[in-house]
Amino acid sequence: MLQQKKETQIPLTRYRLGKPFVTGAVALGESNFSCETLSHLQVFTSEKQADGTVVLSRTMTRDTEIFGLGQTMGNVNKRGARYRMYAIDDFQHTPEKESLYGSHPFFIWKSKSEVFGIFVDYPGEVIFDVGFSDCNKLTITIATANLDVYFLQGSSLKNVTKNFLQLVGKPFLPPRWSFGYHQSRWGYVTQQDVEGIVAKFETHQIPLDAVYLDLDYMDDFKVFTISEERFPKFKNMISAFKTKGIRVAPIIDPGVKIEKGYEVYEQGMEQGFFITDKEGKPFQASVWPGLTHFPDFLNPKARAWWGSKYKMLHDMGIDGFWNDMNEPAIFYSPEGLEKSVKTLVDTTTKDKNLGIKFLFLVDEIKKSQNSRDDMKAMYHQTPSQGRVSQDLVHNLFGMKMAESVKEGYDSFAPDVRYHLLSRSTYIGQHRFSGMWTGDNASWWEHLKLNIQHMCSLGLCGFYYAGADIGGFSYDTSGELLTRWNQLAVYMPLFRNHSNLFCKQQEPWAFDSETLNHSRNSIRFRYALLPYLYSSYVEALESCEPPIRMLGFDFEEDARARSIEDQFLCGSSLLAAPIMVNQGRGRVVYLPQTHLHWNVESLEERSQLKVLPKGDHYVEAPLGASPLFLRENAILPLAEPGRNSDSFGPVMTVLGLVTDVATFTLHWDDGQSKSLKEKCQLKISVRRTKDSLSGHFETLAGQLKTLPWRSISFEIYGIDGNVQRFTKELV
Ligand code: GLC
Repeated sequence: MLQQKKETQIPLTRYRLGKPFVTGAVALGESNFSCETLSHLQVFTSEKQADGTVVLSRTMTRDTEIFGLGQTMGNVNKRGARYRMYAIDDFQHTPEKESLYGSHPFFIWKSKSEVFGIFVDYPGEVIFDVGFSDCNKLTITIATANLDVYFLQGSSLKNVTKNFLQLVGKPFLPPRWSFGYHQSRWGYVTQQDVEGIVAKFETHQIPLDAVYLDLDYMDDFKVFTISEERFPKFKNMISAFKTKGIRVAPIIDPGVKIEKGYEVYEQGMEQGFFITDKEGKPFQASVWPGLTHFPDFLNPKARAWWGSKYKMLHDMGIDGFWNDMNEPAIFYSPEGLEKSVKTLVDTTTKDKNLGIKFLFLVDEIKKSQNSRDDMKAMYHQTPSQGRVSQDLVHNLFGMKMAESVKEGYDSFAPDVRYHLLSRSTYIGQHRFSGMWTGDNASWWEHLKLNIQHMCSLGLCGFYYAGADIGGFSYDTSGELLTRWNQLAVYMPLFRNHSNLFCKQQEPWAFDSETLNHSRNSIRFRYALLPYLYSSYVEALESCEPPIRMLGFDFEEDARARSIEDQFLCGSSLLAAPIMVNQGRGRVVYLPQTHLHWNVESLEERSQLKVLPKGDHYVEAPLGASPLFLRENAILPLAEPGRNSDSFGPVMTVLGLVTDVATFTLHWDDGQSKSLKEKCQLKISVRRTKDSLSGHFETLAGQLKTLPWRSISFEIYGIDGNVQRFTKELV
């Protein structure tokens, strides 16, 4: 129904077709925007096809660039490829892949004459063909005729992004320890293994905030159980770690093992909380524990039940989780496997001379994995639309699983900030969950992909995110790990994770050189932690992603918009990591004057140089990574301790100041939602013709809650000369 156009607070209109499923992506009340029917959307033509799909299309001018679309392969400018929003557990992230784990159907259209955002709020399959089939056409194919399209009028990438976050809500704030260094591996099988890993961090004097538990902590891979055999003193281990400031984050898989007497299975069956099949019986498919049922996260009662299960872990001192396999991932369903096996047997019995047919047969068993037929055979019970096929709301499974954690915590620990990574995500999920980008590989190409993902995810609201550092699959080399660590020091999530079948990749798993480089990077991360944490808190207000493409801040600079291998971190830094094997230098584009620091270690700051706007070749031996500090920006650097709760008393403030530079440090107890012990300290540096001075001002809270007692300023001028002076804080 066409409604009267309202005076909206933000320049935003919703265009509706049919009866869309309410995804929960949008946080802003309807009274704040205009609502119209899809046929009124002017920027795209919309057409209903004979097969029931809806196609939106528009011609792109030569200068049109498309940004966003979150977790997709390829460039930050999405033009020239096709992307399919249909969450899938596919661990081979090769360039041609159209779908990954997350679905983020939001993009920003940027041309010389227009900037606007489009969010297609549809939880099933949406295909974005961005100049792939026709290089000048953008077409969006939506699987059914029930959808909402939000059109965000804007004038810049910044303001479209800001308006988008008003629509879908602001990102969540995880605890401070989420910003520390995290160690993980599918392969720490026993309590002894995990304790051994933690001990090695102490031996090698490397700070650590969290260690992750993969599948083996569970009894027979049964979710919400703990193996007494492999982890005989689980609770003691958690509290012993906690006294050292180290947290534990167990994996949570949604597949519930079908086993009589197993509490989670029995409760789910009794209360009808599992996804059903066509006949209404619980749907079965195999994942890690063998045949399982899947919780129906779209049913609010089932979600509340699942959320309450995290309490058992919370009560043991655990407030960090990674929700995995939530696309949902399916190894096979008995029906699917039977079909594949039958095809194999039938074909090979009929024909012993297969020739080219053999190549198709090789893939036959794989077809039963994550099969679309299985998604179509699963049914949710939803409050708004009753029984709904999983296929039509497919992309919400991970989001609703994460929502169960939020709702659980709201009920049993309302003031606690939990750490939550989800593998599958949908727009809006950033309000209560972080994410990691799934099973990448130890490939140099995935180093670059890490940057591209982060820049695109930030535009869609996912600020707390990161990739598996070192690469999840295949063996990594000491050099690749070194370069990846150098990149990851800036990412909100810094987690080294790998799989069972590849070489160990902890910092000490290589040679002494790699160990030293890793230690330097991780210590540098802790030096940056107050900056990263403060930048993240600031980003929640400014809606400028903490990790951004250069074009976000330098939008009028076409060169800056085309850069795919450098990124901005917070308001002061531009990073240009080395991303090729044996690379010992690189070309860097600077959109303004910067102070260049080839970071080898926190302490080594003797060779800093001022570089003007333009292209530069900078050298970077294996242990060093090019970092750039903006003109009239300052960078607080802490003295690292053991973890995110221990810092030395002196805060160094490094800067290139030709006029005025300010930075606001945000600190609090690091774990409460109410931000207990909140303190905001505004630090500024001012240069006049004949003086240079440093100042601080407490904007909120009390200085005594900060770990720092004095600030040591180290300020460069445009001539490259440095001046140093200290100010006592208390
Ligand atoms: C999936 C996850 C990975 C995890 C593995 C075993 O592949 O993406 O991170 O280690 O399952 O649980």
